[in-house]
Amino acid sequence: MTTVGVLRETVPRERRVALTPDGVARLRKQDIEVLVEAGAGEQAWFDDVGYAGAGAEIRGRDEVVAGADVLVGIHPPGDEDALRPGQVIIGLRTDPERLAGKGVTAIGLERLPRTLSRAQAMDALTSQANVAGYKAALVAAEAYGGFFPMLMTAAGTTRPAQVLVLGAGVAGLQAIATARRLGAMVSGFDVRPAARADIESTGAAVLDLGTHAAEGEGANAAALTAEGEGTNATALTAEGAGGYARALTADETRRQNSALAAKIPAFDVVITTAQVPGGRPPLLVPAAALDGMRPGSVVLDIAASPAGGNVEGSLPDTRIVTEGGVTVIGAGNLASTVPGAASTAYGRNVLALLAHLMPDGVLTLDLDDEIQAAVVACHGGQIRGERA
Ligand code: NAI
Repeated sequence: MTTVGVLRETVPRERRVALTPDGVARLRKQDIEVLVEAGAGEQAWFDDVGYAGAGAEIRGRDEVVAGADVLVGIHPPGDEDALRPGQVIIGLRTDPERLAGKGVTAIGLERLPRTLSRAQAMDALTSQANVAGYKAALVAAEAYGGFFPMLMTAAGTTRPAQVLVLGAGVAGLQAIATARRLGAMVSGFDVRPAARADIESTGAAVLDLGTHAAEGEGANAAALTAEGEGTNATALTAEGAGGYARALTADETRRQNSALAAKIPAFDVVITTAQVPGGRPPLLVPAAALDGMRPGSVVLDIAASPAGGNVEGSLPDTRIVTEGGVTVIGAGNLASTVPGAASTAYGRNVLALLAHLMPDGVLTLDLDDEIQAAVVACHGGQIRGERA
């Protein structure tokens, strides 16, 4: 039987754990041994007693690393961990360049083919983006100096907050749904036509940029054409491969941003989530758009990264107030700030992957399998290509 090890995350501000006591119990039913590093779940309110009650053995880190055939985590183990050749590491955002030299098999859930229906239970990018989108709406609501809902009180009626969500993938749709539950008037925008239909299905409005959509064909279907009457009629769809958006051209970006800049000042809260595979997040809210917003408005950028985000000047884990009184929040690891829900969801993704890798409780790698071929980032000292 294969032994599974659960390590405590060491990355600063990471509060999630890769497997919860419920997950341990599920593995134990298959007679799979589970070693859990002492304190692995405590930041997510899963204590060692719970893990032990579920059938795990609680050990020191070195013992877990030495005793486990499969190590599960969010982030990969560090260089100080004595990994051994042949060991299997499962995480999100695996680091094959570093791990290949250790001879381990590194599996990165970020490489999962997400459109494959039998892989959906393993889709950690989706489960974590869902948590991030939910929390983004709460963080924005907390930073906003007004109510999200319309409130009728003896002292008068307050108007509901106008919230705009840019990028309506998994995180964006959850941010839309959460802001709506809080009572805000919500609009969404995305460059993928499918996402526009998703926005409508939540009951939110699709932001009209004064554009007409034109769909292209094939994986690279993308059209930005000027049609219709008047001067501002542009069609903007940017459907890329694998259900993702493609990066806009410089001209498309200029046209989208000038249309957005005209609309953004009407909103009290803007939440941005736009990403394109392999590239830096597109800039959607330039400084000029921030300058047009009312004092007290809030812009929260889920896509904030050290290389830049959707909002000019936003950086992860930073909060600034512009001279015009607009609070700009660059989100950090939002999923980690809802550690119980995020860990539970991630743990289920890990369990689904483990069930796929070891149907009889024994790990058997099959690199011809579509899912395994995609998620194995390095094996036998070799780095494998990006997403299959
Ligand atoms: P993501 O995190 O890569 O991007 C977030 C959103 O930003 C996307 O909806 C994208 O279209 C949008 N975006 C990119 N550039 C933009 C721009 N210039 N302006 C406005 N919006 C822009 O995407 P995520 O959330 O990881 O997944 C996106 C889509 O992938 C899903 O909605 C779905 O269609 C597909 N997917 C399919 C799955 C399945 O079939 N089971 C599972 C997961 C994702």
